Amino acid sequence: MLAIADTSLTEAEIQAAVNVLRSGALRQGGECDAFEAEFAARVGAPYAVSSASGTAALHLAYMTFLQPGDEVLLPSFTFIATGSTVSAAGGRPVFCDVDPETFLLDLADAERKLTPRTRAISPVHLFGNPCDLAAVEAFAAQHRLRIIWDAAQAHGARWQGRELGGWDDFVAYSFYPTKNLFVGEGGMTCTLNPELAERMRYLRSHGQTGRYLHTLPGLNYRMSDVEAAIGRAQLHRFDAMLAARRRHAAILRDGLSSLPGLHLQKVVPGNEPAWHQFCFRVEAGAFGCDRNQLAQKLADQGIATAVHYPRGLHQQPVFRQLYGDSFLPATEAIAQSILAVPVHHGLTEHDAERIVEAIVAARTG
Ligand SMILES: Cc1ncc(COP(=O)(O)O)c(C=O)c1O
Repeated sequence: MLAIADTSLTEAEIQAAVNVLRSGALRQGGECDAFEAEFAARVGAPYAVSSASGTAALHLAYMTFLQPGDEVLLPSFTFIATGSTVSAAGGRPVFCDVDPETFLLDLADAERKLTPRTRAISPVHLFGNPCDLAAVEAFAAQHRLRIIWDAAQAHGARWQGRELGGWDDFVAYSFYPTKNLFVGEGGMTCTLNPELAERMRYLRSHGQTGRYLHTLPGLNYRMSDVEAAIGRAQLHRFDAMLAARRRHAAILRDGLSSLPGLHLQKVVPGNEPAWHQFCFRVEAGAFGCDRNQLAQKLADQGIATAVHYPRGLHQQPVFRQLYGDSFLPATEAIAQSILAVPVHHGLTEHDAERIVEAIVAARTG
């Protein structure tokens, strides 16, 4: 079976973790400091603060400034943590629709949802496809909003030749096992602002500014040196992993882009996605079968698929209960028709060709 992700560690990564385990220094220490510096350099950020997860990385950002009742504009078509971290920080996530072709935040809908309480915007570089950084920055400047970039799926992606880590106050990454860089559980918040970096360092460690002196309302969101050591070792193969994803995505795009009834995620010319996922919409009428039937046909050929995501955040029971019902047509249509096929670094080019052939055959067969 071709799996949807490859989460195996190399011997060098395992050895790096073992070295920390042998040392007995399991808590946050020098490995974390070094991982922060090395990751920041790789994604083009001056400062980076490691944490226990991508969720913690987002939450830490909000903890630095969000006030109770503040509203944050964000796409409904994303992973739950983009919205739940706003709620956890006392704010209110305001779910916006997405562009039906790029699957990214629709700024026109965000504009309709502005209120006097709107404080921030959190665009998601979904599946590693970069948002329009210039357009979001202009929108945020016009409406005086903070920007919290959710880059959990976008390690190594580039927008118009530029890395995504060094933009604005907050860029949050996740190192969950399926991610493009993975350590187990872990996250990183990059920032251009040294004072915010310092504040997040205090917040992730109980708000402690001196020994048993707690001056900020913090939590324990620290990464341990075990995960950091794995991350540091993995950075050595990160560019090769990214290049492999891009080769596989190119094969999939070449083979599938003109297939009637299949709508690939649109990539704006000049952008270089990280290809965390390779997703497309299946238009049942034109394709000949629907998303679920295609998934079954691919499973029969030994190819795993996944649905990211079967519903928008505004359709999640937890948010419907908290904030009531709303209707976002593009998000709902995408959720019903989207499918992901393997694109990860562990495939061979032959595997990617096999996926193309199986999809082409599923259409006619
Ligand atoms: C878009 C997005 N935001 C946030 C997160 C949260 O990251 P983590 O799972 O490391 O908490 C994820 C990861 O699953 C994600 O995909």
